[in-house]
Amino acid sequence: MSKSVLLLPGDGIGPEIVAEAEKVLHKVNEQFDLGLVFDSAHVGGAAIDATGVPLPDDTLDKARKADAILLGAVGGPKWDGLEMAIRPEKGLLGLRSNLELFGNLRPAILYPQLASASSLKPEVVSGLDILIVRELTGGIYFGQPRGVRELEGGERQGYNTYVYSESEIRRIGRVAFEAAQQRNKKLCSVDKANVLEVTVLWREIMEELSKDYPDVELSHMYVDNAAMQLVRAPKQFDVIVTGNMFGDILSDEAAMLTGSIGMLPSASLNSDKQGMYEPCHGSAPDIAGQGIANPLATILSAAMMLRYSLQAEDAAQAIEAAVSKVLDQGLRTADIMSDDGRKVTTREMGEAVLAAL
Ligand code: NAI
Ligand code: MG
Repeated sequence: MSKSVLLLPGDGIGPEIVAEAEKVLHKVNEQFDLGLVFDSAHVGGAAIDATGVPLPDDTLDKARKADAILLGAVGGPKWDGLEMAIRPEKGLLGLRSNLELFGNLRPAILYPQLASASSLKPEVVSGLDILIVRELTGGIYFGQPRGVRELEGGERQGYNTYVYSESEIRRIGRVAFEAAQQRNKKLCSVDKANVLEVTVLWREIMEELSKDYPDVELSHMYVDNAAMQLVRAPKQFDVIVTGNMFGDILSDEAAMLTGSIGMLPSASLNSDKQGMYEPCHGSAPDIAGQGIANPLATILSAAMMLRYSLQAEDAAQAIEAAVSKVLDQGLRTADIMSDDGRKVTTREMGEAVLAAL
């Protein structure tokens, strides 16, 4: 049966990097006989220019029907003056909420070839390969009531509500346990169960779920300690699962251990394993149109897409191996350039990955 992939290049460097990932996808589609069919649509600023809105109905329709979505990035100075409701970012948020993409997977991988890019000592981070699973559609970022109110006597008080229901915890837990099963079978659940009742429940549900995944070793850690351990000895982790706010902070922290935003992919999944895949970086307007952006984060996002939404693990591994090979060859876009590297353009990097495949 054929599977459909929707390409959403978006803005800035988006079209440049998605073009390279698209070539790579076509190549593995042939090599591994995956039966993928491709379509594309506008989102973000590109959609505003074409239709007046950041998430046109046609794009949302196509997104709902696709098995997986590969997105470049949205936004840029051209649209910064627009009011909130029709800004490019609304396109992205609209896709996340309409498709209920609650499971955010953010790997932090440091290729040994780039160990000097990290701010930590090479021996602490070299070979780092961890995955942070962040709940993306609940928790304190969405809880009601919220606001700023005036107390008696006139003092103002800001408040938010931290809530997670059992079913929300269970579904993100399953995503994390399943990801751990596909990796090194170690899952660390991060909470603040010594202070926050929400996370006492979180911990209970994770324990309960672990009975369904006897091959995965579950541990728990308080978030403050986790933040510390990530910079002290990050390689102790395999998969980390946590709520929206803790995950926001820890995933950025973990990402920066690798020192290179141009290398980091991400996935956002729903209950049907449908997913949206995108690089962690933005549309990089400062270098857009110059052909020098690093396409590897997007190419690695395509690999994640094959793994998590398209059941094509072999093809995913082939892409990851090809990326590692071009780094071995010393090929470097400007953002990961080192003394002994050979500087290449976006297209040259894409072509090198194709050749390595
Ligand atoms: P950014 O990630 O676009 O850029 C930060 C810095 O990293 C820039 O110097 C850029 O040139 C560089 N960079 C980013 N990706 C790169 C790549 N693949 N290769 C080489 N260098 C790369 O973040 P910034 O500057 O904060 O935001 C720019 C625009 O992107 C804004 O409009 C923002 O709203 C949007 N944005 C969109 C995101 C998305 O679509 N998911 C995420 C973050 C920002
Ligand atoms: Mg963040």
